Amino acid sequence: MEIKELITAALDARSMAYAPYSRYQVGAALLAGSGKIYRGCNIENASYGATNCAERTAFFKAISEGERAFRAIAIAGGLEGKNPTDYAYPCGICRQVMQEFGGGGFQIIVAKNTEEYQEYTLAELLPAGFGGDSIQ
Ligand code: THU
Repeated sequence: MEIKELITAALDARSMAYAPYSRYQVGAALLAGSGKIYRGCNIENASYGATNCAERTAFFKAISEGERAFRAIAIAGGLEGKNPTDYAYPCGICRQVMQEFGGGGFQIIVAKNTEEYQEYTLAELLPAGFGGDSIQ
């Protein structure tokens, strides 16, 4: 998998964002163990609390299609009508979902575009994370 391909998919997914309240549009592209890419966007709600982040949309689509192993996710976010000007780091709840299904070596790419991006592992963004092995 080419990182640029995953970033392009995240930018495409961003165009599907439903974000009429914050006007902050996020796209994510999740590479599953099968090699398939699942896209997700943020989906807001008038109640605010029912909002779902782009990353979790991608994860839940993939998990509900039977995927259980994941390699990487690319994320791009920014205000409606503009290309991303900053890196959109995943929120804490999304990092916890990555812990559940990705594990420490899971790769997180935050991107402004295909030329400007940063790479992290989940262990870097969620050190000493709580996971299933913690309750064995
Ligand atoms: N958002 C995401 O989609 N992913 C994140 O990791 C952070 C926040 C969305 C939720 C909401 O629709 C908008 O960005 C502003 O918080």
